[in-house]
Amino acid sequence: MAKDKVSIHGAWASRWVFILAATGSAVGLGNIWKFPYMTGVYGGGAFVAMYLLCIALVGLPIMLAETLIGRRGRQSPVNAMKALAVEAGASRHWSLAALIGMVAALLILSFYSVVAGWSLDYIVGMGRGAFGGITAEGAGAAFGGLTDDPWRLTLWHTLFMVLTAVVIGRGVVAGLERSLRIMMPLLFGLLVVLLGYSLTTGYFMQGFDFLFHFDPDKVRGGILAAMGHAFFTLSVGVGSIMVYGAYMPKNASIGGTVLAVGLLDTLVALTAGLALFPIVFAAGLEPGGGPGLMFVTLPIAFGNVAFGQAMGLVFFVLVAVAAWSSSISMLEPAVAYFVERTGRSRAQVTSVLALLCWLVGMGTVLSFNVGAEAKFFVFGDDGFHLFQWGAEGGRNFFDSVDYLTSRILLPLGGLAFVLFAGWVLGREAVRDELSMRYPRLFTLVFWLIRIVAPLGVLIVFVAELTK
Ligand code: TRP
Repeated sequence: MAKDKVSIHGAWASRWVFILAATGSAVGLGNIWKFPYMTGVYGGGAFVAMYLLCIALVGLPIMLAETLIGRRGRQSPVNAMKALAVEAGASRHWSLAALIGMVAALLILSFYSVVAGWSLDYIVGMGRGAFGGITAEGAGAAFGGLTDDPWRLTLWHTLFMVLTAVVIGRGVVAGLERSLRIMMPLLFGLLVVLLGYSLTTGYFMQGFDFLFHFDPDKVRGGILAAMGHAFFTLSVGVGSIMVYGAYMPKNASIGGTVLAVGLLDTLVALTAGLALFPIVFAAGLEPGGGPGLMFVTLPIAFGNVAFGQAMGLVFFVLVAVAAWSSSISMLEPAVAYFVERTGRSRAQVTSVLALLCWLVGMGTVLSFNVGAEAKFFVFGDDGFHLFQWGAEGGRNFFDSVDYLTSRILLPLGGLAFVLFAGWVLGREAVRDELSMRYPRLFTLVFWLIRIVAPLGVLIVFVAELTK
């Protein structure tokens, strides 16, 4: 049977390495950069509450489903789903979900690499002492100076993409473990140090309140955004976790593992939010400042305390590492698939795919400067335009790719994966993979996968469409 095979792409030494790799994938820019800025844009507590609810009821069940599909299939997500569907007597077209997910992951990588590149630029800035004694205006201008410069953005985007390709080209299983075991705890430690700084600003409670004050009127406004972000931060909906599941040993328990990854991820995001918002308020900045939020606020903190810039240097190194252990998981599903399909070497397949992602990423690079007026998905007075130069509304290239992936492709991909586990593989297969000790707990988890999670995705879509 398929489930006893070992993947041709390698295998994790133990369940711990899977936890490390999956946490490495989950914890990234999504937690430290995106979560705070989205919370700011969508007005605080209501967004956070929806996000937590979506993690628990939708995100974690999907993560379970992905892990168990991957481990049972032991191949790239596309081929795993194809084989399992045929084995279960269902249509092989289920694999289409994994194919779309694969493309979505590459699209996410295209802009993720650009933003990760910002943190590389900030490593240099901190190293040079460029932020000493900086004011809020100065920090804003420094960030603007970076995003206005397409060449500088391209340099870092290119470097980050190469770093990602190098790991994937050599095989994800080799060498990931040692670095992550050190870097992850360090990153968290520094976040806690930042949290300590936030406590000294005198605005801690205001930040806390912003994150946790629940205002029911704001729920509808950001509900799809919150669900999309729950998917994004857990890396689910595209097959990243599925492909890591394929390298997981058969005897490892999936349930506890997935829960651990989800809890760690949430902890990092909340800590980042708690550290950031007091600085935002203390500096008189707008919480809804958008994608630059972290890159404008943190230099203010690091630039104005003793040894701050040295800490800032370490911090941005760790952010880059966290981003890097995430970006590799976006490339792996497609690389595994094309290696299986074409029989070419990992190195060759990786080079081609990374180049493609790099090219698409150039669209994001330009959307912050010379291409800022290129708008997509414009609903104007004269009707809908897919593309319009200089339109009032609409989204620039970066926003469009982010919107298309986070709000549409991730939820739909996740929906397909839980439906596949709950209804196509079915109860016995899921029971066999999860091998849980308590039958009641299994029943609960299985119903989360089969009913609650799919329904959750549908409800959010309907709520968004009718808002
Ligand atoms: N979860 C990662 C973060 O928070 C990003 C990420 C990795 C991702 N793999 C993914 C997002 C797959 C969506 C899909 O930074």
